[in-house]
Amino acid sequence: MTWRIVVPGSTANLGPGFDSIGLGLSLYLQLDVTPQDEWEIVHVSEHLPTDIVIEEHLIYCIAKQIADQYGKQLPACKIEMTSELPFARGLGSSAAAIVAGIEVANLLCDLHLTTQDRLNLSSQIEGHPDNATASVLGGLTISSMTKEGVVDTLHVNNVDASFVVFIPNVELKTSEARGVLPAQFDRGYAVEASANANMLAASLMARDFKRVGHYMEQDRFHEPFRATLIPNYDDIRSAAKEAGAYGTALSGAGPTMISIIPTTIEQVFVTSMQQRFQNHDIVLTKADEHGIQVTTIATM
Ligand code: HSE
Repeated sequence: MTWRIVVPGSTANLGPGFDSIGLGLSLYLQLDVTPQDEWEIVHVSEHLPTDIVIEEHLIYCIAKQIADQYGKQLPACKIEMTSELPFARGLGSSAAAIVAGIEVANLLCDLHLTTQDRLNLSSQIEGHPDNATASVLGGLTISSMTKEGVVDTLHVNNVDASFVVFIPNVELKTSEARGVLPAQFDRGYAVEASANANMLAASLMARDFKRVGHYMEQDRFHEPFRATLIPNYDDIRSAAKEAGAYGTALSGAGPTMISIIPTTIEQVFVTSMQQRFQNHDIVLTKADEHGIQVTTIATM
C-alpha cells in the first residue's frame, strides 16, 4: 500500500501581512510513501538534487522529530518525491516539506493528528504561521501564533483571483532575508505598517482585489529593507502595473515576486511579462482550495 501526500506551496505576507497572511498556491509537492524495511528517498523531479543523505533530508528529519516528540519509533519507508516548488525562492518549499514530513510521521506512526495539531506543529517548526497554515489548509489564511506555539487561523476559500509569480534564477535563504530587517520600529511607523496590514486583510476578505493590489504595495515591515536583495524589484512592480496588475509584492521573503491580476488579462499579461523579464520564470497560478491531501494508491 502506498500513501500519496500532496501539499500546496504558498505565498506569504502579500506585502504587509508579514508573518501572518498566507495563500496556498496551485503548485505542489507530492510524496508517494510506501512502508518497506530500509529507508529510501527518491527525487523524481529533475530540478531536485540527486545526492540524497537520508539523515539530512528535511522530510526525514521532520518525520523523525515528530515521532520522537510523540514517543514513537519511526518505521522505515520509501518516499518518491515530486515537486513544482523551487527551493529558496519564496514559494513555501520548506513549509510544504515540513507539513509533508509531519504527515509522514502521522501515517507511519498512526498519530491521529488533528488539523489544529498540524497547524501548531508546522508553524512552530517554521517559526511563523503564514506559509505553514496555507500549506495545511489551502486558500487564504490569516493567522496569529502565541509564544507557546498555539495557532489561531481564519481560513477563507474561493479567492477567485489570478496570480502570476516572477521566479528569478537565484536563491535567497529566508534567514538571509530576515537578517536585513530592523529589530524595532518607532510607534508612528508601526501604526502605519499595521494599518496597511489591516487594510490588506479587510480588502482580501471583501474580495476587493483592486484595493488588495494597492495595499500589497504598501508594506512597511519588510519590503523596504529587502528590495535591494531582489533582482528587478522596481522594474517588475512598475511593468506589472502598466500591464494591468492590481499590485505586486514579494512572495514571502523573496526573491520571487507575485502579482495579483484580473482573470480577464491572464494570457496577455503572462506573455508580455515573459517578453520583458526573460531571466525569470513567469508562472500563472491560482489559489489552492484543499490544502494537504492524503490518498491511498494500490501497488502491484
Ligand atoms: N513571513 C516570512 C518572511 C515568510 O517574510 O520572512 C518566509 O518564511
